[in-house]
Amino acid sequence: MADESQLARAGLFEARVPRYTSYPTAPQFSPTAVGAAEMRGWLSEIAPGSQISLYIHVPFCRRLCWFCACRTQGTTSDDPVVAYVDTLTAELALLRATLPEGVTLSRLHWGGGTPTLLPPASIARLTRAIFDVAPMAATGEFSVEIDPNEIDDARLDALAGAGMNRASIGVQDFDPLIQKTIGRDQSFEITESAANKLRARGIRSLNADILFGLPHQTDARISASIQQLLSLNPDRIALYGYAHVPWMARRQVMIPSDALPRPEERLELFETARDLLVWDGYEDIGIDHFARPEDRLAVAQKAGLLRRNFQGYTDDIAPVLVGLGASSISRFPQGYAQNAPGTSQYVKAVRGGNFATVRGHVFTGEDRLRARMIEALMCDFRIDADEICHSFGLTRAQLKEYFAPVSKEFGDMVRIDDSGLEIPVESRPLTRMVACLFDAYTVAAGSHSHAV
Ligand SMILES: C[S@@+](CC[C@H](N)C(=O)[O-])C[C@H]1O[C@@H](n2cnc3c(N)ncnc32)[C@H](O)[C@@H]1O
Ligand code: SF4
Repeated sequence: MADESQLARAGLFEARVPRYTSYPTAPQFSPTAVGAAEMRGWLSEIAPGSQISLYIHVPFCRRLCWFCACRTQGTTSDDPVVAYVDTLTAELALLRATLPEGVTLSRLHWGGGTPTLLPPASIARLTRAIFDVAPMAATGEFSVEIDPNEIDDARLDALAGAGMNRASIGVQDFDPLIQKTIGRDQSFEITESAANKLRARGIRSLNADILFGLPHQTDARISASIQQLLSLNPDRIALYGYAHVPWMARRQVMIPSDALPRPEERLELFETARDLLVWDGYEDIGIDHFARPEDRLAVAQKAGLLRRNFQGYTDDIAPVLVGLGASSISRFPQGYAQNAPGTSQYVKAVRGGNFATVRGHVFTGEDRLRARMIEALMCDFRIDADEICHSFGLTRAQLKEYFAPVSKEFGDMVRIDDSGLEIPVESRPLTRMVACLFDAYTVAAGSHSHAV
């Protein structure tokens, strides 16, 4: 694989860069650019009869794992969760009143937090309210993030009965010492039982999230965890780099920073895990995903149809993604709109009869061009000159001007010719750093994580 000294000279081990699930990235959103009026306007401009994606955010968890950087609050009682579903239902009613006729859902995704802590009656109520706004399209997918520790037969039956056909389970690592250090106990048996129960209910694609770069993680430990994971045969695997950002995610102060692997060791951990997955027949997808060749994500990648959105990689090509719930972000052809991050502010707005949009971004100037080039790098490791010149009315000479900072920074580690720009396999750890050179906004350093 990569020549480590070359990657080191390119600054890989010091770099902090965004993961580019959007462009511009969320820290660039402005409270003056986008509010409830834009949200309403953009929704009403959706073409009647088109397909959209819907994301529902549930910011509650029963346990609060120390490693977790997600914005979520712990609760032992169901009361706040049931009340939150009331607000989601009210927000769905606003959506219903604003959307044009005949819209269907190409994707429905519930994330969090832990959506599986909803009691069965709330699951049924929320899905009724969703399908009252828009039914699933014939080829639609309904996916849910599952905490294997926080699920039982009644809730799985409610989700499967509502049409869930994809699921993602959080694993992180199976090693007991690592689990103890990151504050997340989860026996292999519990994970295995969740996977079996999901499959018994006809889930056609099962994803598992695992992490590299965790405290006390070694090549031997990550290899053992991957072997255990492979015995569950997930259709997709997300192999994320652990982001240690205790200044943003306070719980992470519980994690001893001297037990964390160094950046060079992180790269080795990633490569060890990747080699095991590829050897077992998984296709590598973008910077951090793996999929069985017959899985829709792998099929989309081969067809050049892989895309990137707030949930990571997707084969969904719907132009609109509506995000509901506290902190959710919607994407429209016109720009991005984000809901109030705090639950109380979100609830107050929606209960007052309005969308809870508090910030966002309106696409102007070169935004769409730069967004597409960054997405193409993150998905395909290349920018196709024909595609970009044709879609954005550029000449080859104009396109080459956008590539100039890349040759200056990375020289022949990145290939640039008349067909476009390509990051060869051995330079792929640099992908987010290359993407950053197409980012025209200065992004706050605090939001960045290790480039590897
Ligand atoms: C919303 S959580 C998972 C769903 C569910 N609550 C669970 O715990 O199984 C989504 C994923 O984000 C990833 N994640 C959370 N904190 C992270 C961090 N600090 N660095 C990298 N990935 C993180 C984890 O892999 C996690 O499974
Ligand atoms: S990993 Fe999942 S269960 Fe743990 S705190 Fe994060 S969202 Fe909650």
